[in-house]
Amino acid sequence: MLLLKKRRSVLLASAAVGLAVTAGVALVGTAEAASTLGASAAQTGRYFGAAIAAGRLGDATYTGILTREFNAVTPENEMKWDATEPSQGRFTFTNGDRILNQGLSNGSKVRGHALLWHAQQPGWAQSLSGSALRTAAINHVTQVATHYKGKIYAWDVVNEAFADGGSGGRRDSNLQRTGNDWIEAAFKAARAADPNAKLCYNDYNTDGVNAKSTGVYNMVRDFKSRGVPIDCVGFQSHLGTGIPGDYQANLQRFADLGVDVQITELDVAQGGNQANIYASVTKACLAVSRCTGITVWGIRDSDSWRTGENPLLFDNSGNKKAAYTSVLNALNAGGTTNPPSPSSPSPSSPSPSTSTPPQPGGACSATVSLNSWNGGFVATIKVTAGAAPINGWTVGVTLPSGSAVTNAWSATNTGSTGTVSFRNVSYNGQLGAGAGTEFGFQGTGAGPTTTPTCAAG
Ligand code: XIL
Repeated sequence: MLLLKKRRSVLLASAAVGLAVTAGVALVGTAEAASTLGASAAQTGRYFGAAIAAGRLGDATYTGILTREFNAVTPENEMKWDATEPSQGRFTFTNGDRILNQGLSNGSKVRGHALLWHAQQPGWAQSLSGSALRTAAINHVTQVATHYKGKIYAWDVVNEAFADGGSGGRRDSNLQRTGNDWIEAAFKAARAADPNAKLCYNDYNTDGVNAKSTGVYNMVRDFKSRGVPIDCVGFQSHLGTGIPGDYQANLQRFADLGVDVQITELDVAQGGNQANIYASVTKACLAVSRCTGITVWGIRDSDSWRTGENPLLFDNSGNKKAAYTSVLNALNAGGTTNPPSPSSPSPSSPSPSTSTPPQPGGACSATVSLNSWNGGFVATIKVTAGAAPINGWTVGVTLPSGSAVTNAWSATNTGSTGTVSFRNVSYNGQLGAGAGTEFGFQGTGAGPTTTPTCAAG
């Protein structure tokens, strides 16, 4: 072990010399040679990001560290509801766009944060309730996700919706009081608006196995079983002077549900253990193949929202702290390599049967389940193949007069009023005998009251 370590430091030293002399030929390719957080994380297919503030982008020390070290960014405040829709229906994206462009121009992933949250709501939304709030919230999700369509790696669709303490239940909020289905309605609207963004649920105090994280776990498991679109869970990881002993096991149990996991807002109180805790978080992520990346919540201690706690990787002057070195070393020590991620989020439908080739013309059926509120609804349609496999389907849904489809997910609609026809998309047309898939749509007015028709082929 000692010998191996020695040998590695010799290699590192020669890599550094080689780099200086030959400007990056050959030796830099070794896994050990990466010297920034982003490049080290990229060696195992991951990202290392920072939350950034538009107001600091004029600070050369700040942007110097940002562009050198990080390959992902999250807007610290600029894409929140109060920032993006300060008055109802009037959207302001100037600062959000600055963060987006900063990230994209640096080749970084951009995490969108956060579409719906009980905090940092504009005043007008705080004073709404019931169906007016539900409609406004879903419209907010649709408008913001549409503005950033195709550019966001992952959205925190819903932030901090679970209660602290032992209940494992939802946090009370104006959004929660619109009905328990507000979270799934938000995810469906986000999927419809930007089908290529990964859709995350994000929370704090969920970093170990506890009642709160188990509440979230049960929601994710339920979403996956019912085909509600969800791709990832964010663990904020605002840590004090310790880390839960089951941190990695907790990430793994979520990953085992079939979602990615991400460390989304990491910061750790300065103290004797800061460097070790940072290393432990990094190692845990590297050990979970579906942990796709880590984001720290700020760059220098002086940028942190945790004033006086010095919880970040760079000191006030922008110097690397011991915690920085421990993260870099952990990243360079490697971990699992992620499977290549699909270009669009993977469908939640069962894989098509391969034993019998699909035949056109087999029968199918469809059923609808509705979440309605005054003035709007979300319909989830289950499509089931008959006794023979099918390789495509079209479902007809008749809406009451005055109702209209506003967006659909996992299907393409023709028309939006009267009898609307929904055709499968590329990944959910093939169904084995008896197999099913789900798609959905959102609408204004009342939802359908009759059973949909289904035609195969
Ligand atoms: C914080 C920002 O860092 C502060 O600038 C702002 O005043 C309040 O919000 N959980 C989250 C983040 O999801 O959005 C919060 O960010 C920190 C806690």
